[in-house]
Amino acid sequence: MRYGYFDDAAREYVITRPDTPLPWINYLGNEGFFSLISNTCGGYAFYRDAKLRRITRFRYNNVPHDEGGRLFYICDGDATWSPAFLPAKTPLDSYRCRHGLGYSVFEGEKQGVQAELTCLVPMGASCELQKLTLRNGSQDAKRLTVYGAVEWCLWNAVDDSTNYQRNWNIGEVEIEGSTIYHKTEYRERRNHYAFYSVNAPVAGFDTDRDTFLGRFRGWSEPQAVAQRISYNSKASGWAPMAALRLEIPLAPGEEKSFLFRLGYVENPEEEKFSAPGVINKARAHALLAAYDTCAQFDAALSELKAYWAKLLGQFTVKSSEEKLDRMVNVWNQYQCMVTFNMSRSASYYESGTGRGMGFRDSCQDLLGFVHLIPQRARERIIDIASIQFPDGSTYHQYQPLDKRGNADVGSGFNDDPLWLVACTCAYIRETGDFTILDEPTPFNNEKGSEVPLLEHLRRSVNYTATHRGPHGLPLIGRADWNDCLNLNCFSHTPGESFQTCSNFESGKAESVFIAGMFVKYGKEYAELVSRLGLGDEAKSVLAAVDEIEAAARTAGWDGEWFRRAYDAFERPVGSRQNDEGQIFIEPQGFCVLAGIGGRAYGQKALASAEKYLGNDFGLEVLHPCYTTYRDYLGEISSYPPGYKENGSVFCHNNPWVTLAYCALDDGNGAFDLYTRNAPAYIEDRSEIHRTEPYCYSQTIAGRDAQNYGEAKNSWLTGTAAWSFVAVSQGILGIRPDYDGLRVHPCLPDAMDGFTACRTFRGVRYEITVRRGETKGLVVDGKAVPGDLVPLAAGPVCAVTLTI
Ligand code: BGC
Repeated sequence: MRYGYFDDAAREYVITRPDTPLPWINYLGNEGFFSLISNTCGGYAFYRDAKLRRITRFRYNNVPHDEGGRLFYICDGDATWSPAFLPAKTPLDSYRCRHGLGYSVFEGEKQGVQAELTCLVPMGASCELQKLTLRNGSQDAKRLTVYGAVEWCLWNAVDDSTNYQRNWNIGEVEIEGSTIYHKTEYRERRNHYAFYSVNAPVAGFDTDRDTFLGRFRGWSEPQAVAQRISYNSKASGWAPMAALRLEIPLAPGEEKSFLFRLGYVENPEEEKFSAPGVINKARAHALLAAYDTCAQFDAALSELKAYWAKLLGQFTVKSSEEKLDRMVNVWNQYQCMVTFNMSRSASYYESGTGRGMGFRDSCQDLLGFVHLIPQRARERIIDIASIQFPDGSTYHQYQPLDKRGNADVGSGFNDDPLWLVACTCAYIRETGDFTILDEPTPFNNEKGSEVPLLEHLRRSVNYTATHRGPHGLPLIGRADWNDCLNLNCFSHTPGESFQTCSNFESGKAESVFIAGMFVKYGKEYAELVSRLGLGDEAKSVLAAVDEIEAAARTAGWDGEWFRRAYDAFERPVGSRQNDEGQIFIEPQGFCVLAGIGGRAYGQKALASAEKYLGNDFGLEVLHPCYTTYRDYLGEISSYPPGYKENGSVFCHNNPWVTLAYCALDDGNGAFDLYTRNAPAYIEDRSEIHRTEPYCYSQTIAGRDAQNYGEAKNSWLTGTAAWSFVAVSQGILGIRPDYDGLRVHPCLPDAMDGFTACRTFRGVRYEITVRRGETKGLVVDGKAVPGDLVPLAAGPVCAVTLTI
């Protein structure tokens, strides 16, 4: 069953009822100011860092899940309603939510009044705009009372929900005409404030939440709204908010629009105040002036749409597969931007208060983003590398605001370093920009410790090569990609973090998955340095690759599939010898795509993966699921069977297998797996899947789970980047390379070909792939051997491949 539909021409997903199985959200903002916005207008805003600069409040574990956010009330006679259904919850005569790229539109109708609310964060601006258009479609003259409101968060979102003895005393606001300023803690060390404003004279306002709501009332029926008044309250401590009231007469057929602005301002220290205790509002005034009219809003919306059209125009495909095209052309790339921006910080499943930017996560996110805005990818690579330690190990996460490594989580995730090689090589293949390797990059952000980025990569490779266990395989440390395979943890204390505690440092537990990574990325590093003329170094890295490859082929092979690991007692994990967890997906994907054991091992491994792990939604992480907690395996065995790392379809690793199929030239296998969890392909099962049908989720409950097929943790997952790599570079086969663009598709029998446009190093490659008798590649009319389209002079290069 569906709850909406894709509007491909508008690049929108149109939700046709408010009661989606879960809040279906969208992201506003591109660089500094960000908002989450659900299909009922919930969500929150923050500036750069969802934990440290939270602008509006979000209540965790709230019921309904999604109440709060942007609070609009339209009072028409006795009826009080909200254009997006929440918070008023009054049934609407009609409702639509259109989530577009960087904007969301809510269309609600009640008693002949049509409301259209469009929310966006303009390009390069530090604010969210909310344009509310009201039209009286009835025969009667109306006098509407309209409220627009937000609740302020006291900046640090963790502190905001814990430190009440302080928080309930510090809230401060200023009121100036139709603008409410939130200035809590500005009197001391903060130099930022927020504001909420409307571009029309207000009939009244409230800034004290509890006055606005009244005793025992919630957001669905605030007392002020029920009485159609404002108390003009001035918050002093407690919970500051901004509620603006408009009185709007509307003749039959008349339409009026209002622009609400939620803004964030930073002032230089010396310009903080305009008078003692009074915030300097100059920057806010400038922002308000820039977005004061509906024409300015419309221009901002057009600019945003043009931006996305141009960005996505860099990679487009047209094939017989409408759903594949939809994913590639719009939604998968859009999600890649979101994961690039957010890493794993802020979604409806990631609280925005915990994980900031993940080392491995952000490195992988880059793989799906680098073609969009290479310059931002470049900056990110340097930020990530700057939390590495001199021995090549790295912090696992950092906070986006200060970019410092997160000491609470620390290091010891032994796959992390190699992902830096993966994303840097991808960046250089995309851009040809080898100068990034010379970029002075510190260790642990320490001034004076800078070395060229290349040295960071070298230490990454060296770290894995020199940290090996009894079988010659890489040591796993606290965990590898699978955060929940904690082979040195041995935890028995409730609540203890599986990732950060090590109650038994065996120094022995090994990962076959990291071996697969090393073979792939070690070879990529060797190619990179040989291009730099460092032939000897390339040779010695390849020698280490050979050793680790051999270890993976022997100790890592179980007969029918790759093993997963060796535990602290040197016993295999992911082997027929085990009673549960006999086969895992990760090494089947990564070892096969790395070419370990050639076709013979590859075909066996993928057949076993399908046989034991395959379900309707893809491949599960492992089989059989662990039914009991095992201290020598850690968190993986803590989840009930079928959930998360214990046997769900963990979507992130499925594209590795898709790519592995491509490495074996099995187009049917690749496509079949791709379509089992690509969101557009499972839209019809939305009532089972439950999360948004326009973006990937991290996990889909496996066959052993009570709620088989139910997805969780949508949006912020490495699935986005890897799925884009799998479909664009694997199935469609368009691969950036150092010396040109490779075109090496791996299509299913059902696809006869496709056309694609790919902007690569400033040239637009117009690619046609078709089936035919005379095989081969023709570039600008000339036959070219192999699959490499050499770098063209541009601006357009015509490529035809007959397969
Ligand atoms: C983490 C990833 C990890 C994955 C598998 C995600 O929650 O963000 O870093 O690879 O889980 O455990």
